[in-house]
This record gives sequence, C-alpha cells and structure tokens, in this order.
Amino acid sequence: MEDLVDKIILVPFRSAVLPHYVSLTWELWEFLSASHFYLQIMSIPTNHPDPTLHALQTLLQETIHSIGNEDQVKKNLNTAKQLLDTARVRYDDGILSKFRLDGQVALVTGAGQGIGRALAHALGEAGCSVVIADINATTAATVASELEAKNIQSFAVKVDISKKEEVDAMMEAILAKFGNLHIACNNAGIASQSKGEETEEVEWDTILGVNLKGTFHCCQAEAKHMLKNGYGRIINTASLCAKTVVKPQCQVVYNSSKAAVVHMTKTLATEWAGRGVTVNCISPGYVDTELTRGEHLQDFRAQWIRDIPMKRLADVAELTGAVVYLASPLASYTTGLDFIIDGGATLW
Ligand SMILES: NC(=O)c1ccc[n+]([C@@H]2O[C@H](COP(=O)([O-])OP(=O)(O)OC[C@H]3O[C@@H](n4cnc5c(N)ncnc54)[C@H](O)[C@@H]3O)[C@@H](O)[C@H]2O)c1
Repeated sequence: MEDLVDKIILVPFRSAVLPHYVSLTWELWEFLSASHFYLQIMSIPTNHPDPTLHALQTLLQETIHSIGNEDQVKKNLNTAKQLLDTARVRYDDGILSKFRLDGQVALVTGAGQGIGRALAHALGEAGCSVVIADINATTAATVASELEAKNIQSFAVKVDISKKEEVDAMMEAILAKFGNLHIACNNAGIASQSKGEETEEVEWDTILGVNLKGTFHCCQAEAKHMLKNGYGRIINTASLCAKTVVKPQCQVVYNSSKAAVVHMTKTLATEWAGRGVTVNCISPGYVDTELTRGEHLQDFRAQWIRDIPMKRLADVAELTGAVVYLASPLASYTTGLDFIIDGGATLW
C-alpha cells in the first residue's frame, strides 16, 4: 500500500506538484487528500480489477499530470467525486464488502453441472460476470440462463479443454464478449477406475489429457491475458486424491493426474507471483455430484463415509466460500496454496 501511495501520490507530488505549488488549488489539495485517504483505507493493490477503483487510480495520475490546467483539474475533480462516492458505498462497509467482486469477469470450466455450476453461481452472486464453459453446450446454456434469471451477466461457451485450439478460441470469445478476464476456475475434470496392472494407455491419455494437460492449456491461455494486465486469480480444482490414496476404488490415473495438478499449480504460482497473478487450487474431498453418484461407486460409499471424520460427503456449496476468497483482491498474498476441503478425510 505504501508503495502504491508513493507511486501515485507522493512521487508525482514531490516532483510535479511542488514546483507548481502556487497553482495548487484548495480543491485539488482536498481531492488528493481524500483520494489518498480512501486508497489507503481500502488497501487497493495497483491494477485493482474493480473498474471504479481502477478509473480512480487512472484519474489520480491524470490529474497530477494536469496540474496547471485549472479547467482540466476541475473536470477531473467532478468525476473523481462521483467515483469516490461509488467506491465509498462499495468498500467502506467492513470486511464482508471486501469479498465483493463487482465488475470482474470470471471463467469457470466444467460449469455445466456439479462443483463448477456452484462456483459459477457463487462468483456471480459476488458480483462477477461469469463465463460458463463446458464440453456440454446444453448444460452450459442452462446454467447461463440460471444466472441471467438472477440478473447476473453470463456467457455460455462450448469447449473441450483437452484441445489447445479450443481453449485459445474460448479465451478470444471471452475477450470479445467482456473485454477482460480477472478470475479463472479451471475446474473441468473426469475420473476413471481401473487396476494399475490392467490400465489401458487410452485411459491414461484421456484422463491426463483433460485433468492435467487441459488444465494447463487453460492456465496458459488465461495467464497470457492476465500477465499483460498485471492482475489475475487462477484457481484450479485438484482433489483429495492428490494427497492420499483413496480406497477401496483403484484409480491410479485419476490420482496421478490430480497430484500433478497440485504441483503444476505451485510451479506456475512461483512463475507468476511477481506479476500480479496468483495461482491456487482447491482439493475437495468426496462431494455429492454426478461424479460420485455413478452406480459402480455406490458399493464404496459406506467405506468412504467411514473414513471421513465428518461422516458425510460435501455439498457443492461448501466449496464456494474458499473459491470466492481466493478470487478476491483480499487473497493478494496467497499463492501456490492447495486449499483442502475434505471434512477431515486426509487427517486419518
Ligand atoms: N465430486 C467429487 O467428489 C470431487 C472430488 C474432488 C475433486 N473433484 C473434481 O472437481 C471437478 C468437478 O467435478 P464434479 O464432481 O463437479 O464433476 P461432474 O462430472 O459433475 O462435472 C464435471 C463437468 O466438467 C465437464 N467436462 C468434462 N470434460 C470436459 C472437457 N474436456 N472440457 C470441458 N468440460 C468438461 C462435464 O461436462 C461436467 O459438466 C473435477 O475436476 C473433479 O475431478 C470432484
């Protein structure tokens, strides 16, 4: 924060304002103090994705450069007062309001159902416009209309994340539609079961192609845009299976793919940490979705529940708070985290 204040207020103030001190009107002084005050109490990182705060930062810089041009300064003052009023309403309201994501664009892959659908609703309710990406165009369109019914701007995109050209086309479509991308939940994933000695090469290629390579395609395409902006929040979906060998089902391929997602997340986090883009992942335990409702898995359920200290599967809603936090500017010092949400399953 000191860095920001220094960059946008004090340095230009010292170098540009002092020589023109005589032309520094009382109003301008008031404006600089008020802006300084609000920027300070809101702890805004540079390149804050909120369009109001971003506009305020830009205006501050412009105003400092316009000193001496009274008309321009007065015009900027009026705009700044309006922006400050909007920002005040949004951010002067305590900690909960700082979780709001108004004006941001979020992408969720695998959002046509299950965990992705819940994340899309949560990010929309927090203020984002949401891109609903899924290989299934029908379910993606349904979720997009659920969001529209709540007055959340949304956009359905059909994508197979295992195909790099489709992921790149999705990014282009998002930028054409919304002009920006601030938050990306790379959540799409598939599972399979087989005994290691019987696992076919095709299973390996398919699962790794979606869960690992597909997630990487997404991180890469998203980061190319976010790094240019100097701001981004990437949240991958890994799994409890990355931490522990779940039983009794045999799933060497799925477990390996999710363990790799965690390490890929940490690696990319270090590469992009200094450039405003954080990369984290969530590792859900067993969640009650289509993925765990398959008939072939029902015999295993009783054992899963025995092995979970909380004695139940998770509801999709129980993952959303972590994701909204990781997506928020408040998580600016959190990167490379594997956020385990498993009812205690990995503790036993
Ligand atoms: N359900 C669980 O218990 C659980 C636990 C840990 C991790 N996970 C992970 O959470 C994520 C979501 O799981 P879920 O339970 O909601 O599963 P789900 O099967 O209910 O939903 C997955 C969604 O991803 C979409 N999808 C599949 N392949 C895709 C592709 N190639 N490109 C784009 N979209 C694709 C599907 O159409 C579907 O809408 C997955 O990565 C999964 O591995 C799930």
